[in-house]
Amino acid sequence: MIPSAQPWAPAALPVRSVVRESHDTVTLRIDTTKAPALLAYRPGQFNMLYAFGVGDVPISIAGTTPRGLLLHTIRDAGTTTRILAGLRRGGTVGVRGPYGSAWPLEEAAGGDVLLVAGGLGLAPLRPALLHLLRHRRQYRRLILLYGSRTPADLLYRRELASWAEEAEVLVTVDWAGIDWDGHVGVVPALLDRLVLDPPRTTVLLCGPEPMMRFTVRDLRLRGIPDEAIHVSMERNMVCGIGFCGHCQLGPAFVCKDGPVLRLDRIAFLFEKREI
Ligand SMILES: Cc1cc2nc3c(=O)[nH]c(=O)nc-3n(C[C@H](O)[C@H](O)[C@H](O)COP(=O)(O)OP(=O)(O)OC[C@H]3O[C@@H](n4cnc5c(N)ncnc54)[C@H](O)[C@@H]3O)c2cc1C
Ligand code: FES
Repeated sequence: MIPSAQPWAPAALPVRSVVRESHDTVTLRIDTTKAPALLAYRPGQFNMLYAFGVGDVPISIAGTTPRGLLLHTIRDAGTTTRILAGLRRGGTVGVRGPYGSAWPLEEAAGGDVLLVAGGLGLAPLRPALLHLLRHRRQYRRLILLYGSRTPADLLYRRELASWAEEAEVLVTVDWAGIDWDGHVGVVPALLDRLVLDPPRTTVLLCGPEPMMRFTVRDLRLRGIPDEAIHVSMERNMVCGIGFCGHCQLGPAFVCKDGPVLRLDRIAFLFEKREI
């Protein structure tokens, strides 16, 4: 057995199958039999995925199948993710983790939970939503707002319909084709369709930073305090475990203190672009 507790040693694991989500994005289903500790993750955490001989990159944990395969949804964005997104069944991927902080799901119990996702931001929110649905009675309203560039870029399309049976699910796209009869526009505009209960609402937010900035602005206008807003931040990472400093965001290391951070703790940096 390969001990994934060794922080620098990726376990070389087989890809059991690959689900194509869109033209540039796939979900890998990875067999963790040789490294079972990888399944002891909390929603919101990430793994470092290694394309052998190329490099390793942080990728959110998108969940686990009922048979215990680890899910990672990867967009081809550059050198390493291109190799990872090109893996086929039987290919090998290096995995080390799980790392980082998690969504505050226990703290949110008893209230409403609003999940807001833009693009790939749905990947780290997926295991959170599945947890909330599994413990449905512990929460009041569950709301998912999700936006992508086009209908063809929507992730987890089949699951969106089943989630809508137990949660309020509003989906929007930036550009619609002729087959789309849903919402068109940016994710924060979906907030206009909701009446929120600010003192009892916890927000989990992940997406491109401009989208998160606009969403935060609109949440504040609706009376949601920064203490109730949790954001998942992305920064370039090298070690993933707090050694190298590449991911520093003010006083925080995104790999160790994040990626999930409470907004009031980073609000002064969140306002600024390109930090
Ligand atoms: C905590 C965390 C979770 C993530 N989860 C996912 C996920 O679930 N799925 C997924 O596909 N991607 C995810 N990412 C982003 C992913 O790590 C980057 O796309 C990847 O590191 C790019 O590496 P590359 O070698 O493929 O691209 P490179 O060749 O290094 O760069 C390609 C381009 O992407 C830019 N870039 C590099 N790193 C990042 C980054 N972290 N964010 C934005 N742009 C970047 C570069 O500046 C360059 O313009 C996550 C990042 C973090 C920090
Ligand atoms: S990636 Fe090295 S300190 Fe965070």
